Amino acid sequence: MEADLGKMETDFGKIEMGDGRNSGHSINGHAVCPFSGKIAVENHKQVKPNLKLKVPQPIRLKNHLVSEENYDVLHSQIEEVSSFNTKCTEKVCQNSIMDIPSGEDTPRKVEEVYKEAQAFLKQYFSSIRRENTDAHVSRLQEIERELKEKGTYQLKTPELVFGAKLAWRNASRCIGRIQWKKLQVFLTNNIRIVQISPDAKAFGYSYRFPRSAITIFPQRTDGKHDYRIWSPQLISYAGYIEPDGSVLGDPARVEFTEVCIKLGWKPPRTAWDILPLVVSADGKDPEYFDIPREIVMEVKMEHPKFEWFKELGLQWYGLPAVSNMRLDCGGLVFTGTAFNGWYMGTEIGCRNFCDSNRLNIVEQAKMGLDTNSYVSLWKDKALVEVNIAVLHSFHRDNVSVVDHHSASEQFIKHLDNENKSRGGCPSDWVWIVPPMSSSLTSVFHQEMALYYLRPSYDYQEAAWKTHQWIKSEDKPRTRKFHFKQIARAVKFTSKLFGQALSKRIKATILYATETGKSEQYAKELGNIFGHAFNAQVHCMSEYDVFSIEHETLLLIVTSTFGNGEPPANGEDFAKHLLQMLYNEKRNQGDQVDSAGTCKVHTPKSLIRTNSAMTPSIEYKKQLSRMESSKNQNTVDYKRQLSRLESNKSSIATSTAENIGPLSNVCYAVFALGSSVYPKYCNFGKTMDRVLEDLGGERLLELTCGDEMCGQEQQFRNWSSNIFQVACESFCLEENEMVQNAKKSLGMIPLTEETVRFNRAEKELSLKASLEQSYRKQTITCKVKENKHLGEYTNDRATIFVDMESNTDLKYDPGDHVGVMACNRSEIVEAVLKRLKGVDNFDRTVQLQVMKEKLTPTGTVKSWERHERIPAATVREVYTRFLDITTPPSTKVLKYLATACNDENEANYLKELIEDSNKYDDWRHHYYPHLAEVFSQVPSCRPQASLLAALLPPLQPRFYSISSSSLVHPNRIHVTVAVVVYKTQNGEGSTHYGVCSTYLQSLKPDDDVYVFIRRAPNFHMPQDISVPLILVGPGSGIAPFRGFWHHRRRQIINNSTNSKKPGPIYLLFGCRYKEMDLYKDEKKQAVAEGVLTKSLLALSREKGVSKKHVQALLEDEGPNITRMLLDEGGHFYVCGDCKMAEEVQQKLKDVIKRHARYSDEEADDFILYLMDENRYHEDIFGITLRTSIVHKASRETAKRTRLESIQSITSS
Ligand SMILES: Cc1cc2nc3c(=O)[nH]c(=O)nc-3n(C[C@H](O)[C@H](O)[C@H](O)COP(=O)(O)OP(=O)(O)OC[C@H]3O[C@@H](n4cnc5c(N)ncnc54)[C@H](O)[C@@H]3O)c2cc1C
Ligand SMILES: Cc1cc2nc3c(=O)[nH]c(=O)nc-3n(C[C@H](O)[C@H](O)[C@H](O)COP(=O)(O)O)c2cc1C
Repeated sequence: MEADLGKMETDFGKIEMGDGRNSGHSINGHAVCPFSGKIAVENHKQVKPNLKLKVPQPIRLKNHLVSEENYDVLHSQIEEVSSFNTKCTEKVCQNSIMDIPSGEDTPRKVEEVYKEAQAFLKQYFSSIRRENTDAHVSRLQEIERELKEKGTYQLKTPELVFGAKLAWRNASRCIGRIQWKKLQVFLTNNIRIVQISPDAKAFGYSYRFPRSAITIFPQRTDGKHDYRIWSPQLISYAGYIEPDGSVLGDPARVEFTEVCIKLGWKPPRTAWDILPLVVSADGKDPEYFDIPREIVMEVKMEHPKFEWFKELGLQWYGLPAVSNMRLDCGGLVFTGTAFNGWYMGTEIGCRNFCDSNRLNIVEQAKMGLDTNSYVSLWKDKALVEVNIAVLHSFHRDNVSVVDHHSASEQFIKHLDNENKSRGGCPSDWVWIVPPMSSSLTSVFHQEMALYYLRPSYDYQEAAWKTHQWIKSEDKPRTRKFHFKQIARAVKFTSKLFGQALSKRIKATILYATETGKSEQYAKELGNIFGHAFNAQVHCMSEYDVFSIEHETLLLIVTSTFGNGEPPANGEDFAKHLLQMLYNEKRNQGDQVDSAGTCKVHTPKSLIRTNSAMTPSIEYKKQLSRMESSKNQNTVDYKRQLSRLESNKSSIATSTAENIGPLSNVCYAVFALGSSVYPKYCNFGKTMDRVLEDLGGERLLELTCGDEMCGQEQQFRNWSSNIFQVACESFCLEENEMVQNAKKSLGMIPLTEETVRFNRAEKELSLKASLEQSYRKQTITCKVKENKHLGEYTNDRATIFVDMESNTDLKYDPGDHVGVMACNRSEIVEAVLKRLKGVDNFDRTVQLQVMKEKLTPTGTVKSWERHERIPAATVREVYTRFLDITTPPSTKVLKYLATACNDENEANYLKELIEDSNKYDDWRHHYYPHLAEVFSQVPSCRPQASLLAALLPPLQPRFYSISSSSLVHPNRIHVTVAVVVYKTQNGEGSTHYGVCSTYLQSLKPDDDVYVFIRRAPNFHMPQDISVPLILVGPGSGIAPFRGFWHHRRRQIINNSTNSKKPGPIYLLFGCRYKEMDLYKDEKKQAVAEGVLTKSLLALSREKGVSKKHVQALLEDEGPNITRMLLDEGGHFYVCGDCKMAEEVQQKLKDVIKRHARYSDEEADDFILYLMDENRYHEDIFGITLRTSIVHKASRETAKRTRLESIQSITSS
C-alpha cells in the first residue's frame, strides 16, 4: 500500500507545516517515546535515553487499550545486524523530524561495504536456515574476492529479493508492513522497461487486486552512473504557480513540474495533468515519457449522501507508486526503485485533499457549518465527509483502498507477529498513527520502539538537485518519447535481450508421481509457463526444500497413492512442509489444550489421515483443535481475532491472519487421483491446505483431476486458468509470448515431421535399456518355480512365483518388488500390423525428437534422443516400454483421427475427443486397449515413431515380497492375484492384466527384470516382543508370509535379543475354503508357535455364514484392544484400499467398545497409532474388485464432473 512505503513520500508536506499529530506524543499521560525518561522510569530498568544502548535491555511496550505489554528485544541486535542511529540526542527526542538520518550520499568504502554485506548475509542465511554453513562461509569469501577485484560486488537474485522484503519489514514509518513477505520484486537492467512493465502494466489493471511490487534498477557504482527515477511517484498530478501566486493543480508537485517543463514537457496546464515519467539511466541525462491518460485509473470523487460533492470536481489516481527512494542492502545502494501498493483512504482524504498546503478543500466542503469558530468543529466534520467520499468512490469503482481503522488493526496484528517471530518491530509512532481520528484507532494506544535497521528504504536528495548534466545544465532539454514509441523500443530491446527480460519471474513447478502422469502434466505446465516465466520443473524428491520460502510462484502437480498418501517421491517434501507447519503451530502455542496435553499430531498422522473420515473433515478437526486451544490459551488471541473480524477493509483481510513462512509464495495445486478411492486426491488436498496454512497465497482454487472422469480435460482447463491468473497477478503483458503460450495450450507439439526412429548409435542390453528408461537399478532374476495357490478358475487365480537372482538381495519383509512386464504378444502384433514408417520391426533403432533452441544467431533445430524410450527394436519398444493397454488418451486419439483414411472413422474419434463425457463413458465401458481401438477404425495407419512418442510409458507393477531374505538371501517370492475381467459390464471381451498375466506365463529359467522398493512404513518392529495383528485377505496375505518366515528364522537363529517373541494374529479372508492361501504353511507356523492365531473368514462357502476379515476383528476385539492399548502392539493391513478403509472403521468400533472410548477418543487413538508408527497399511490399489468399485464410483464421478464443469463455467 502506499501507506506502506509510499506514505513516506505523500506525507512529506504535512510534517513540515506541523499537523498536530505530534500531540500524540503523550498517551494517557504517559510519554510514548520508548527512549524517553518516563518509560525508563516505568520500566525500572534505568534505560538511558541514549539511542545507542550500551547494554541493550528489553524495552517494555504497553498497549494502553487492552493493558497488554510486550518487550522489544530486536533493537538489541542493532550491533549485530546493520543499523543506523536516530537523530535524537541523550536529551532531545527528535522523533518528529522529517528526515530519516540515513547518512551519506557518497559511495561507501570497500571495508564498509563488506561489513554491511556480512551483516546482511547473516540475516539472509539465517532466513533460509543455513547460517554458518559452508554455503554461508563460501558466499562471504566470494564477496570478499569480488570486492577486492572490482571494488564492488553483486547480490544474487534471491538475496536481493530477500533484502527488498526485509527493507520493507524494517520501514519503521510504514503501517502496512503486514504484507512485507508478499512484496513482488522485479529486477531490471533497462530503465525504459519501468514504463510499461511491470509497474506501468499495473497502471492498467492491478488496481482491483494489487500486490505490493517493487522494481529495482542496478546498484550505484561510483556515484556518477546512478539509475534514478526523477518522478517522486510514477503517477502524479502537476502543479503550476499562477500569476497571482496561487497554485493550479497539486502544490506538492510544483517544483517537479518545473523540472519537467525544463526538460521540454508541454504542460496542458489544467488542474489534473498527469506528469510525465522522468528517468535517467547510468548517470546519463534524463528522458521523459508521457503517460497516456487512458491507462491511468482515476477515481472521480462523489459522496454517498451529498450530491454537491461531485461538483467539487475532485479525482485521484488509484495506484500510489513511490519512485524516489533508494534501497540500501548489503552495503550496496540501489538508487532507482519504484514500488506500488494501494492507498490508505486518509492519504488522499486528509493529506492530499485537506492539508492546507495541498488542495485544501476543507473550506469548500464546509457544509453550511459555522466556520467562524473552531468550536463548531466544522473542519473535523468536513474532513470526515471528505474521507467518506474517498472511500465510497474507490469502493464504487472497485479500486482497492484500505481505511485507517483496518490498516491500524492490521498493524497491531503485524506487531504481534513480529514480536513472536523477531522479538520486536521498529515503529515510528508519529508516522504510524493515522492523520484523523487518531485515538479511535488501536495504534494510537500502542507504545512503539523506534530504531533503524538495514536493509532499508531511505530518502535521497531529489535527482534534479544532484544530477551532473552531460549536456549544458542551463538548457537541460531532452528528447520526448511517446508511450507507443517506448512500447516499440521495449519490444525491440526485449527481443535483443532474448527471453531474459520477460522471464524474470521464477515459476517453480513441483510434481510427485507414482505412475508418471503428474510428471507428464508438470512438464506440459513447464512448457506453458516457459513462455512467460522462468519456469523450472522438479520432482519433489529432487527439490531443495529449504528454498521454498524464497519461491515466488509455486505450482504443485501431484497424485495420491496408497491410501491417501503421497507418492514415494513426494514423501520427504510433504514431511518437511508438515514439519514446518507443526513448528509454526507449536511456536504459536497452539498445540496445548486446556488440559495441557499435546493436541497437534505429527506430520505422519497428518498425511495418513484417519481413513474413517474424509480428509477435509480430518484436517478441519486438526485445525479446530488448534483453534480451540488458541481460544483457551490466550485472551490476547481472542482480542486479535475480534479486531480482525471487525475489519471491514476492502483489502483481503485473510492476508492479515495468514502471515507465515510462505507468505511470499503464490501457489496453486493440481491434484491427480481417482474418485474410486475414499481419500480422493488426499495428498494434493493436504498440500493445498498446508501451503495456505504456512501463509502461502493461493492463486487459484485447488483443482482435482479424476482418473475416472475427465482428468485430462480438468488439467487442460486448470493449466489455462492458472497461466492466466499468474500472468495477471505478476502483471505480465498480454504480449506475444503470452499469446504463444495460450496457443500452445492443448496443442500436440509432436508431429510426424518432428519425431522419427533413427539408426541406434549403439546397442544396449535389455537390462541397460530398462535401467535407462525407468531410471532404476534393475536385478535380473530367473524363475525357479511358478505355481497356482489353492483352487483356481480361468478368471480367478492366485499364483506363487519364486525368482532367483545371482547375487544376494537386500530387502526386509514388507518391502515391494517392482516387476518390469511385457505386453501380451497378441496385442503387440495387432498394433504393429497397423503402423507405418518401419520396414523392420526387429532392427535396433532410437526414437528421436526434433528440438528447437534459441541461440544468439537464431533458432536452431536438432534431433535429440527421446528421454524415456531407449535404443531397442520397434517390437521391443511396443512390448516393454509403451503402455498399449490403458485406453488411449484424447491426445493419442487426436493423432489417430488424423491417421484415418476413412472420414467416418476419423469423425468417430473426433466425437470422442470433443465430448469429454462421451470419451469418459467410452473409456469406462469398453476399456479398450490400443488393438481394440484399431479394430474400431480399420483405416487408421499411424506412424510408428509419433505414436510411440505419444503413448505413455509402460509402468512397472509392484508386488509385496512374500519371502524373507534371512531364509532366502537371493530369492524373491511373490503372491499374485491374476487379473482377468470382461469389459462392458462383464459382457464384452476378456482383458488380461498386463503384469499378473505376464508373471503367470513365466516358465522356470525365464528371465524377469525387477527392482526392490523399500517400504519402511510396513516393516516389522525392531522389538520382537510386541504383539502383531496382521490383516490381509486374498493376495493381501503376500507380505505376511514374509513376516512369518522371517520370525521363524529369527527364532531359529536365536536373534531375538533373548526376548520372548510377542504374539502374532493373522486374519485372512477368501471366498471358499479351497482358496485358503498357504493353508498348510500357516498350520505349521501355528503349530511351531510362530503364529499365535491364524483366523479365516469365508465369504461364499456353502453352509458357512458369510464373513469378512472385519468380522474377525470383532471376534478378537478384547484381545486386539489389549494388544494395542496395553502391550504396544502393531497393526498391519494389506490389500485393496476399500477393504483397508472398512478395516480401519471396524478397528475404531472395536476400540470404542472395548476401551470404552468416545468417538473422538477412538479417532485420536488411531491417529496416535499412526504417529507412533504402529498402524501400517500396504495398499494395492483397486485391482480385483475393480469392476464392482468402478460401477459404484462412475456415478459419483459423473456427478463430480458436472459440478466441476459448473464451477469452471461460473468462474
Ligand atoms: C504397493 C503395492 C503392492 C502390491 N502388492 C501386490 C501383491 O502382493 N499381489 C498382487 O496380486 N497384487 C499386488 N499389487 C497390485 C499389482 O501391482 C498390480 O496392480 C496387479 O497385479 C494388476 O496389474 P496388472 O498389470 O496385472 O493389471 P493391469 O494391466 O494394470 O490391469 C489392472 C487394471 O485393469 C482395470 N481393470 C481391472 N479389472 C477390471 C474390471 N473388472 N473392469 C474394468 N477394468 C478393470 C483397472 O483399471 C485396473 O487398474 C500391489 C500394488 C501395489 C501398489
Ligand atoms: C496403489 C494405488 C493407490 C492409489 N490411491 C489413491 C488414493 O488414495 N486416492 C486417490 O485419489 N487416488 C489414488 N490412486 C489413483 C492415482 O492417484 C491416479 O491413478 C493418478 O492419476 C496417478 O497419477 P501419477 O501417475 O502421477 O502417480 C491410487 C492409485 C494406485 C495405483
